[in-house]
Amino acid sequence: MINNKDYEDILVSQIDAGVLTITLNRPKFYNALRNNALEEIVNELTKAEDDSNIKIIIITGGEKVFAAGADIKEMAKLNIVGLLNDIRPVFWRKIANFSKPIIAAVNGFALGAGCELMMHCDIVIAGDNAQIGQPEINLGIMPGAGGTQRLLRTVGKSMAMQMVLSGEFINAEQAKNFGLVSEITLPELSYHRALKLAKVIANKSPIAVRIAKESILNAYETTLEAGLASERKAFTLLAATEDRTEGIAAFMEKRQPTFKGL
Ligand code: CAA
Repeated sequence: MINNKDYEDILVSQIDAGVLTITLNRPKFYNALRNNALEEIVNELTKAEDDSNIKIIIITGGEKVFAAGADIKEMAKLNIVGLLNDIRPVFWRKIANFSKPIIAAVNGFALGAGCELMMHCDIVIAGDNAQIGQPEINLGIMPGAGGTQRLLRTVGKSMAMQMVLSGEFINAEQAKNFGLVSEITLPELSYHRALKLAKVIANKSPIAVRIAKESILNAYETTLEAGLASERKAFTLLAATEDRTEGIAAFMEKRQPTFKGL
């Protein structure tokens, strides 16, 4: 366990095999994401970006709740000028730009900014108790950190409209059917599954993982034609890596590859 005493809203632990886990840790407030929580997450990601021993991140909130949204009490203090000067979009952009993979292990409520944090992650493993939603409409507001844009691109127009306009939650099964999560487990197993998957990914070539993640996310921004061209360039670029030589040699020699990120 590292760094815990420096933080108020998260716990950080580095298990082994290059996996760093960030646990949202304000259970009394359903892990509501006040600014401090986002800042602490960003601080850890910034350090992880430069640490070649860290290959992948897991973000979780524990077995009962992922996060019930932005901290409404904190948000209530901000008027229009406060919101215009809000630091939160800067934090969100940093999370979105993180180059290594992030897996979310989501149990219980993932609401508002909690759902938006989940959608910033690359893979989502959900406990069967997950309740996912964008209930901002109940507060007379709307999502402000991707809850209209990322949600639409994943679940499509009808379900995005339903969730954002009604504020109703969807369960893990619905979320899986709509592609918001990739697997469902028992709540007590979601972290273990995320960790197992993280270790598999941590063993791959870090450079190939990074470029593949970038290429998939690039699809949000481009036409199919431009995306395919960019994918081909990325694929070609990897021919310059030692990891590619090692990966192909290991296949030919019927052994496990040892990737160095070179
Ligand atoms: N912000 C601040 N505090 C929160 C919170 C939040 N988002 N969600 C829960 N809490 C607090 C509650 O105030 C309560 O604290 P107190 O005991 O001090 O009153 C504690 O957590 C437990 O909550 P409840 O008593 O309400 O628990 P419940 O089991 O009855 O209900 C819930 C759980 C359905 C998640 C309910 O708490 C809820 O609806 N929370 C708000 C969800 C929401 O609206 N999220 C969107 C926030 S806005 C946003 O996220 C904007 C954005 O990104 C741009």
